[in-house]
Amino acid sequence: MSLRQAIATPDGKRRYVRALFGTIADRYDFITVVLSYGQDRRWKRRLMTLASPRPGARVLDLATGTGDIAFAAAALGAKVVGLDITVRMIELAHAKRHGVALQFLVGDMLALPFPARAFDIVTTGYGLRNVPDLTKAIDEIGRVLAPGGQLLSLDFNRPSNAIVRAAYLAYLTAVGAALGWLLHRDPDTYRYIPASIRQYPGADAVARMFEARGFSRVRCYPVLGGLMSIHHAIRANGAHRAHGD
Ligand SMILES: C[S@@+](CC[C@H](N)C(=O)[O-])C[C@H]1O[C@@H](n2cnc3c(N)ncnc32)[C@H](O)[C@@H]1O
Repeated sequence: MSLRQAIATPDGKRRYVRALFGTIADRYDFITVVLSYGQDRRWKRRLMTLASPRPGARVLDLATGTGDIAFAAAALGAKVVGLDITVRMIELAHAKRHGVALQFLVGDMLALPFPARAFDIVTTGYGLRNVPDLTKAIDEIGRVLAPGGQLLSLDFNRPSNAIVRAAYLAYLTAVGAALGWLLHRDPDTYRYIPASIRQYPGADAVARMFEARGFSRVRCYPVLGGLMSIHHAIRANGAHRAHGD
């Protein structure tokens, strides 16, 4: 079965993503630096500047991975929970704590183990593109955010221009295949990134989804000339029905 077929259904994508991040967890930090040419830290700093949590703010970092965004929020005095579905990612995040006061949990962002309105800020770095049901993920975020709370998401974009998109995806496929072969003897490992971008609605469409699911003041900041983006949205007071209000 091809990679594209493997992630074509929600169940298939769920299984594929779980296995993939378990496999790459130990090399995740290294790969992120290589694939972003060292820019990833800067993009995450930008996300945190937009969020600007006040000391004591309740922050939930979804798909936290090894915890970069969670640690950045904790450094500003926020009360942080980092959540990820991959056990190994959470073990690696714990290992980086060195006494920093924050909490890491294994969990699924499609079924968050928190009551409604439990957080002031929800962040995610490269998280939304990986879930098998984007609408459900947005509704879960809306449910756990307090009214007026902020959502910030950094992710790859799916460029709307067909030529730019083709060149971008071809580049990511070639680099991903080479790295996958070198590090895991499996060229598909990092070809998942372009495959998931092909499936992704793109930054503008995701912004419209936030608006349709009860978020207001939705902004989409282009990063790397629009190849990536940061969404910033506010959980409206009268949020979507799906939040259970
Ligand atoms: C590309 S990594 C991003 C890690 C980190 N946020 C960062 O910016 O470096 C994507 C993460 O999403 C996690 N993930 C995928 N599906 C998830 C889900 N349904 N719930 C929670 N985490 C999930 C993976 O385990 C992986 O750690």
